[in-house]
Amino acid sequence: MKPALSRSRASCATSFHGVGPTITSICTRTPSLGTGPVNQVGRPAAWWDACVASLEDLIRPERYPRSLNYDPAWVVSLDMGPHPLWLLENLDLDLTPGARVLDLGAGRGATSVFLAKEYDVEVVAADWWTPAEEVQKVLDAAGVGSSVTAVRAEAHDLPFEPESFDAIVSVDAFEYFGTDDHYLGYLTRFLRPGGTLAVATPGMTKEIRTLGAIPHYIAECVGWEALAWHTPGWWKQSWELTGLVEDVKARLQPDGWADWWLWHDVTCSLRGEDPHAGSVGRMLAADGGQMLSFTLLTARKKA
Ligand SMILES: C[S@@+](CC[C@H](N)C(=O)[O-])C[C@H]1O[C@@H](n2cnc3c(N)ncnc32)[C@H](O)[C@@H]1O
Repeated sequence: MKPALSRSRASCATSFHGVGPTITSICTRTPSLGTGPVNQVGRPAAWWDACVASLEDLIRPERYPRSLNYDPAWVVSLDMGPHPLWLLENLDLDLTPGARVLDLGAGRGATSVFLAKEYDVEVVAADWWTPAEEVQKVLDAAGVGSSVTAVRAEAHDLPFEPESFDAIVSVDAFEYFGTDDHYLGYLTRFLRPGGTLAVATPGMTKEIRTLGAIPHYIAECVGWEALAWHTPGWWKQSWELTGLVEDVKARLQPDGWADWWLWHDVTCSLRGEDPHAGSVGRMLAADGGQMLSFTLLTARKKA
């Protein structure tokens, strides 16, 4: 029998949409928990309980009710950065069923599965680093293979028809290609007039250019790439000045640093790593929420 992740702490009655891996495939934590009694799948009980306890920290029904439909072990198995479903849920999208949505920088496909299941939309999961065949396997296993198509595509060379999407969504990827002044003009070509643009990207409470230098603890982790991390104000002004979009809304993810730290802490814990030891942990700990969060941006293409 396949054991289910206990959801008692979350008091949640619904079942997960995700058909993710069992805990055994993602939890590589402390071998010292590998002795003692074993559970029904032959795993050390203490090891199993510790993994479940870590994953349960990612079940937050009050804050992220829609993400609750997805097995946290499945989300962790697709890890490429802070909880992508929480970021997507924070974007408060309003999508019409049947709409055609581009998920740009979709990574391993978690956000595309969420879009298809939560909004009943047709999705193109476009990504550069992850082979499309790999993403398609995730989509098929999650039961959305007929409504989501994986495409290997570079963000400046998108293989789509003009005005072919009702919405373009990008979670934790825009910082790699979207800060160039030319980019919004290029990307909006693929959006129908009135279509929605929604982006979640690492954000700052203060502009680095105003500070005059990248804070040392951020530079030690990501170096010059932090120059692409901006305040909501920077994004709002940059997008509004183009005249290409309207109704631009930009804000920091509420408690974004805390969410980021929680994700980092849980994923380190599952790997048996000290969350303060690596470069990301040192950066987040030194920041303590002073500067780091995610910027959440939405706008509509002018009709
Ligand atoms: C930090 S990962 C996040 C992936 C996913 N959105 C998530 O949140 O799990 C950043 C993603 O951006 C994509 N990316 C980076 N540069 C890109 C580019 N020039 N064109 C398309 N995708 C790009 C990468 O392929 C990668 O999957």
